[in-house]
Order: sequence, then C-alpha cells, then structure tokens
Amino acid sequence: MAIAQDIESRIQILDIVNRYVSTKKAGVNYKWLCPFHSEKSPSFVISPTKNIAHCFSCGKGWWPINFLMEIEKIDFREAIQILAKEAGVEMQTQFSVEQSERGKDLYKLYKLATEWYHQALFLPENSGSLAYLTDRQISIDTIKKFQLGYSSSPRDLLFALKNSWFLSDFIIDSGLFVSESRDKFYGRITFPIANTMGHTVGFTARVLTDALPKYLNSPASSIFDKSSILYGLHLAKQSISKTSEVFIVEGQMDTVTLHQAGIDNTVGISWTALTKEHIRLLRRFAKTVYLALDSDNAGVKATFSSIEQLLNEDIEIRIIQIPNGKDPDDYIKSGWDFLSLRSDSLSVIDFYLREGGREYDMATLIGRKKLIEKCLEIIVKLSSQLEVDFYLQEISRVLWVSMDILYSEYKKVKREVTQKQREGERDKKRTEEKENSDENKNPHAKSQKYAPSLPDLIAGYIYRYQFLDLFSANFVYTVADLTSIPDATLLSRTLCSTLEPDDTQMLRIIDLHLESDHIDANPELIERSFRDLLRGLHVLLLTCEKNQKLIGLDPDSDEVYILRSEFAKKEKLLWLK
Ligand code: UTP
Ligand code: MN
Repeated sequence: MAIAQDIESRIQILDIVNRYVSTKKAGVNYKWLCPFHSEKSPSFVISPTKNIAHCFSCGKGWWPINFLMEIEKIDFREAIQILAKEAGVEMQTQFSVEQSERGKDLYKLYKLATEWYHQALFLPENSGSLAYLTDRQISIDTIKKFQLGYSSSPRDLLFALKNSWFLSDFIIDSGLFVSESRDKFYGRITFPIANTMGHTVGFTARVLTDALPKYLNSPASSIFDKSSILYGLHLAKQSISKTSEVFIVEGQMDTVTLHQAGIDNTVGISWTALTKEHIRLLRRFAKTVYLALDSDNAGVKATFSSIEQLLNEDIEIRIIQIPNGKDPDDYIKSGWDFLSLRSDSLSVIDFYLREGGREYDMATLIGRKKLIEKCLEIIVKLSSQLEVDFYLQEISRVLWVSMDILYSEYKKVKREVTQKQREGERDKKRTEEKENSDENKNPHAKSQKYAPSLPDLIAGYIYRYQFLDLFSANFVYTVADLTSIPDATLLSRTLCSTLEPDDTQMLRIIDLHLESDHIDANPELIERSFRDLLRGLHVLLLTCEKNQKLIGLDPDSDEVYILRSEFAKKEKLLWLK
C-alpha cells in the first residue's frame, strides 16, 4: 500500500513513541519499558535510523502505523488518516475513496450523529432538554467540551444521514436506530463516547425523567470495543499524564461533573467493570489510580473487582470513600470539596478491613476469622513479598492477631491458590497456542508475531553486512531449493532482490537483533557466525533432499545404499558432520 510507505518514510517513530512514554538514549538507539506489557527492565528499543521499535522481550516490532494502531486501539484506516494529516500526505487515494464514498464510514457516521444531536440541544424547541442539563448545574462550556446532545426526533437524523450519502442498510446497522422510523435515543440526552483519539464510537443516552431504563447504550461494533473504552480519556489523558494520577468513576455524569470541577484527570467506566485493557491504557499515563465508584452496594462490588484487576500492575491503588451513599456527582453538587477526599482515601487492605467490618461481626471470633480469610484471598494474589508483608502487618495491627499466625495462614492459602493457578495456566497455554495458530488478517499484525528463524537470520546478515557474495560463493543449493524448507520466503526474496514492503520492515527488525548480538564484534567473528548459520541451512536442505529422494524406496535396495553413501560424501564436503 503506497500511502502507508509514503507516511512511514515521513514520520519518525521516535516522535510518536515519545508521546506515550519517555525514552532514554542508549547508544544510537533509544530504550524504555515496553508500553505493551509489564516489565521491570527496559527491553523496548526504538531505532531512529531504521525507523522501527522492537521489544526484545515480547518479540514484537512496530512501525509508525501499527504502533499508533496498537497503542491507541484504533484500526489501520484511522491510524493512516491521523498520520497522513501529520505527514502532509494527500489522502485522495483509492483507499480512502473506497472506504468513504461507498457511504460506509462508521466513524464519519458517528461524527455526523454527534454534531446533529449536539446542535439539536440548542434549538429553541428543545429548550427543555437543555434546561435539564443546566438544572443539573452542567455549564454550556462543559456541554460543548463533552459534545452532549439531544435526540429530538425519531427520524430526522436518519434523513440527515441519507442526505449525506450514507447507505440505508449501513445506517440501520450502525446501532443508532431500532428501525427506519425510530432513533434508538429519541427523547434522550446523548453522551458521545469517544476513543482515545476523540472520535465518537458510540453513545449512551439518558432519559430526562425517572423512567427506566435510565441509560441506553450503543451496541459494540467494529469501532466500539466496550472493554477498552474509558469515558472521557481523550479529554483526560494530558492531565493524567501531567499528574500521574487518575480518578476512575462510574458513568458519564460523574465524569462530566468532575471535569467541570477542574478534576480533569478523571475517566468513567460504565458498561463493564474495570478491565485489563483499561488498565493497559491507563498505565501509560498514571502511577496512582483513585477508585471513586459509587458508595452503594453495586459500587462497592465494582470496587472489589477493580482492585483485583489492578493488583500487580505496578500501580498504586487508593480508594476514595464518598460519604452517605452518594456518587461523586451528588457529592460535588451538594457543595463539598471532592479533592479533599483524596487525603482520606484508603489502601486496598484498609478498604477490605472496612468493608469486612461492615459485613462480619468483629465482636465475635468467627467474624474476625472470616474477615482474615477474606483479606488473605487478596493478599495471596500479590507478587511482591514486600507488599504481602506490609498488608499482613496492617491486618495484624488492626485485628490484633500475631504475625506468626497470620503468616502461617497466608502460606497455607498461598499453597492452595498456587496449585489452582498451575492448572489454570496449563489451560491458558493451550488456548493461546490455538489462538496463535489462527491466521491473522492484518499484514502488520502478522509481522508482529515475527521472531527470526534461521533463514530469516541469514537474510538479515546479507542485508546488514552485504554478505551476498559470501553467500553465493558458499551456497551449494539453488534459490528454488529453498522452497522445500519452511520460513525461507524472506531469504528467497532477499536473494532475488524482490523484497516487498513488509519484508524490509522485517529485515529492519532482524537488523536490530543482529546489532544487539554483535555489539563490539569484529568482522571475523561476524563472518564466522554467518558461516555457522549457512551450515545450519545446508543441514536443513540436505535433510529435505534426503527425505525426498529416499521416500518410497526399499531401504535394503542397492539404490538406497548408493544414495546414502552419496549423502555421506556431501555431508563431509559441506563440513556438516
Ligand atoms: P448510575 O445509575 O449510577 O447513573 O449508572 P449516574 O451516573 O449516577 O447518572 P445520573 O446521575 O442518575 O444521571 C452509572 C452508569 O451505568 C450505566 C451508565 O453508563 C451510567 O452512566 N447505566 C446505568 C446503564 O448503562 N444503563 C442504566 O439503565 C443505568
Ligand atoms: Mn448520579
């Protein structure tokens, strides 16, 4: 795809990566912790000269486009659009025409719907809906910032979309309509839900009365992955990054109100509990998470489940206690200072002790025993021994139990859990192996799973050290013979100079591996390791040759005897034995 190459030739991956993590110079390259998995020492390397990033630990490689795709959770098309704009590349390619002129651009449709609902909120005939928001003390600025809107008609948006050349079936399938004559959100206040780039991917919409259901949501779609969207993150990420802190609340109203109160490092969870995917997004910006979920039963339950997700993620977890069963929105609107709650926030174990204290009777032995068991359930999940010790001490102090007894209880539970975990891991490995074997559609995604094989390494040497002559002088087979062994496509194309764009990207990754393998190596050493690889390739090819020629022959025949002695000679000649 020409446009992708055009973009990648103009965009520096280091610039893109630096927007998300701070990198440190290491020789000619830059290094940092991989933004895509947890690690303690940096194995994520960015090479400005090769314009790639590569993680030596997870083995994946990134170019500007697929890096942006993965870190922002956006699709190829959207990444291209964003980078094309930055690179000043003309997008009037067949690609964009194909996607948008067919009237099938879901982002465009949702953008139009966002604008349509938003303007409707300010029409004189809909003053009642605007008043609903202003009565709830939401300012016009905030309404604009969050692009809140109103669905004032069951059909008008549908007409507007048709007028903008969207195809009827596509409009109906978009999730905005229940039928040709009914807007799903009709009569409701609309909250556009945006991805981290700020593009609307869905809506949630509230009734203006006490009717049920209170909120209606768009369905999941190709652009709306419910487990990875945090409401308001596009507006909050800068502030989160600046303060290294994030407030997590439940729902749209709480998010909007906190932002309005100046606490704009706030995001909302709604359709699901906090997921690992959410945490992965937040980890890039935040060191401390303040859980400020509702103080009702559902909120407490959600807090427990969020804590479980956040454990062992290298994130400090604090739990904000909102008094009197209120949510953050109620609390602020009653005139209280929300930020002051931060200093009274609880650690995980204090939260457990507090909630347990409500559930069990602390005056009885049974009650205290139950609470200890509950706390141990979470403590055994901690991977840091330091944290384990800290939490046990806290329990020992609050519940007056000796550390010795607590510790032996801890070890008992830990043993049981480890046993279960082992079984779980075995199952997980099995599913992962299955998933890995499934073909991946996206060419970029496919190359991510790439780790250099023997033929690939040889291709890398030829590419990096100009070893083509050395290879030709010593290779006893032909390029055509390479088809008999797996993974040799890249090598074949390198030898024939018929490299495709994906190939050069792979070669750059292998190049990075060679670079790190051969720091300070002298030319002699490098040549020797290349010759070793070549010997390995010969072994592979000779084995194939043997299999091919011997198949179906009588093992006791003269023919086989002659062939075997020929192979033995060849092995000797090639120094394979
Ligand atoms: P809440 O019931 O706590 O609503 O639901 P809220 O945020 O306090 O809203 P207000 O103040 O009454 O206007 C929290 C979130 O759960 C989801 C919504 O995303 C909501 O923001 N929800 C709630 C639904 O999806 N459907 C519902 O019927 C209710
Ligand atoms: Mn509320």
